[in-house]
Amino acid sequence: MHPSTQSPGADVDGPIVASAEESDGGVNRRSFLVTGVAVGVGAGLGRFGGAASALADKPTSHRRDKPTSHHISKGDEAILRFLAAAEIIEADLWQQYNEFGGIQDGEVPGGSGSPAYVRALEVLDSDMSQYIHDNTDDELSHFTFINAFLSSKGAEPVDLNRFRTLPSSKASGAQQIGRLTNLMELTVDTSWWTRYRSSTMNPDFGDSFPEAVPGLSKGRFPAIPRNDKDLGPEDHIQAIANTAGFHFGFIEQGGTSLYPQLAQRVSDPEVLRVLLSIGPTEAMHFQTWHDKAGNAPALTDPTNGLVFPNLNEPPFGGEEFQTNLIMPEPTIFLEKKFPAVSIVRPTETEGAAMGAVNALTADGLFIGHSQEFFDALKKLASAADAATPDG
Ligand SMILES: [Fe+2]
Ligand SMILES: [Fe+2]
Repeated sequence: MHPSTQSPGADVDGPIVASAEESDGGVNRRSFLVTGVAVGVGAGLGRFGGAASALADKPTSHRRDKPTSHHISKGDEAILRFLAAAEIIEADLWQQYNEFGGIQDGEVPGGSGSPAYVRALEVLDSDMSQYIHDNTDDELSHFTFINAFLSSKGAEPVDLNRFRTLPSSKASGAQQIGRLTNLMELTVDTSWWTRYRSSTMNPDFGDSFPEAVPGLSKGRFPAIPRNDKDLGPEDHIQAIANTAGFHFGFIEQGGTSLYPQLAQRVSDPEVLRVLLSIGPTEAMHFQTWHDKAGNAPALTDPTNGLVFPNLNEPPFGGEEFQTNLIMPEPTIFLEKKFPAVSIVRPTETEGAAMGAVNALTADGLFIGHSQEFFDALKKLASAADAATPDG
């Protein structure tokens, strides 16, 4: 059967569900559901919990199904494996946001919410909790699908569970489990804000862009409460919510570029379809967060001096900063002789995977990880960047 038309309980899930029940070699829909609920709630990964937890528990026990149709090239496999890793990382950070500021339910369980943090997020938009939940749900589906697709082609799915070693926040609302990402010491690059407003520059031409929130790009700031002392005073917890608001945009603009960057080097039409179908959902997330970040109130965090400027007033304001300019401004593309065009930026494919690893590292997401983690991630990125359309 064509992988994209299979139901969740069909055989494509077999390798992912691989668990104790699998010893008889059979995995049916019931065992998927039972595993998903029983293990998933504890791990905080909802309907994808069975998949993720099984990967954690038995990283070497995946049963490789016979490929459902045809094998994919080594290059395509490397690109998909890197994307699976990136999506696992995305899911981990979104899971933490959801535990405090989203909606903890059957789709995205784990955590119990932080009322003070939610109130601060709601200053950006009253629907923030729903959006955080839905973004988390999407990321869980992204890595679960890509891993299932890899398995269906006889390729090894990606498992980062051995690296879930970073501590959880101690603030009320979080699960106390090992994490892949650190949201408590971020250095957020907010130049995506001005990059998408420029009509004359493009990072693919080597251009660089001013920061919307210069303070966030220097120093280390929490995007979630680190403990219950972070719940006040009011401008401190608001600064944490504002940081999250800009971080959401940073993460999702990265995904918005990564898929078109890597799509240029896949060879199989079905793999291309996977990339072209997931990538634009990252852009949908980005567009939403771009709009919400503009509602982050101007303030100075009384605990550390972090300033969120009024982006509509001098020295900010104008085309580069005005908060209602959230559609991509047409700009230069490919060659300057062409007319300006509204596009995703950057989309240069060379070194794209390693570029993503470097950007996430500079963001502070991996502070506390071992060298082994960075080596594993860079190995996946190098393989993806070595892929060519010829395989
Ligand atoms: Fe994603
Ligand atoms: Fe995303």
